[in-house]
Amino acid sequence: MSNGHQIHFSDNLPILQSLEDESVDLVYIDPPFNTGKKQERTQVKTVRSSSGNRLGFGNRLYSTIKIGKAAYDDSFDDYLGFLEPRLREAHRVLAQHGSFYFHIDYREVHYCKILLDQIFGRENFLNEIIWAYDYGARTTKKWPTKHDNILLYVKDVDQYFFDSDAIERIPYMAPGLVGPEKAARGKLPTDTWWHTIVPTNSREKTGYPTQKPLGILKRIIQASSKPEDLVLDFFAGSGTTGEAASRLGRRFMLVDNNEQSLKAMAQRFDGRDDIDWMGFDPKPLQTGKIQPALFEPVGLLH
Ligand SMILES: C[S@@+](CC[C@H](N)C(=O)[O-])C[C@H]1O[C@@H](n2cnc3c(N)ncnc32)[C@H](O)[C@@H]1O
Repeated sequence: MSNGHQIHFSDNLPILQSLEDESVDLVYIDPPFNTGKKQERTQVKTVRSSSGNRLGFGNRLYSTIKIGKAAYDDSFDDYLGFLEPRLREAHRVLAQHGSFYFHIDYREVHYCKILLDQIFGRENFLNEIIWAYDYGARTTKKWPTKHDNILLYVKDVDQYFFDSDAIERIPYMAPGLVGPEKAARGKLPTDTWWHTIVPTNSREKTGYPTQKPLGILKRIIQASSKPEDLVLDFFAGSGTTGEAASRLGRRFMLVDNNEQSLKAMAQRFDGRDDIDWMGFDPKPLQTGKIQPALFEPVGLLH
């Protein structure tokens, strides 16, 4: 790869397969849920019944009853089947000191954790980060679900890179209890991160539906990579990972197979001549003017 950044319009599997072993320093992905085909299959069971309409062994009568539809399980199996080869490739291309952040919904995280434990090894699982936000309607039928999960694995628990000094410190919840010096320095964030979703009227907003906040990516990249490192996001969406990586002096490689994503990235990276675009020409959508700096001092609370 050149010293510049790369954006690929492609299915991510062949791109991953084309990368060399251990050539990436940090991977962050935020895959969509359930890209597999929805297969709705009615499950049936055959039972003995005097009024049955099927003749079985010993001339006994049987009837067939429906016991439900297996659509959810099937589509979920498809989903894990879709993810697995990509996760295996991610593991292969990750450097020995590399880290892998996997952003997922609370309903899927447990299944994905089991798969990732198999691929990375349980000993290389470091954290489950909870990104907590507070937005939108609240159900009164259960605890309103207002968080995402981010699983952190490393390639090798004895060699991984993690720079706690580079992490932006945050205010103590009760600064009066720790003394003025500590209060002024702030504390290290824990594995629970409070951060707003991308505000509708912010400059950060690209209009891409699943866009994640720069503040979340900035924190990940600061802690788990060094300047000049290569950061890979192969479910890139609006390109948040690339934006955060390049503002922190890292190189990025982004991949997405949806034209809308490439269009959003063309606008986001308008005015940049240090990006190699593969399979997509951004120019018709660009003005050539660089976008204003996007890090706004809002968002992370704890
Ligand atoms: C949840 S979005 C990522 C959003 C991103 N984190 C952001 O901040 O904008 C998931 C992305 O994965 C892309 N995607 C799904 N399947 C893919 C595939 N096989 N190869 C490449 N990209 C894929 C979708 O087009 C979508 O843009």
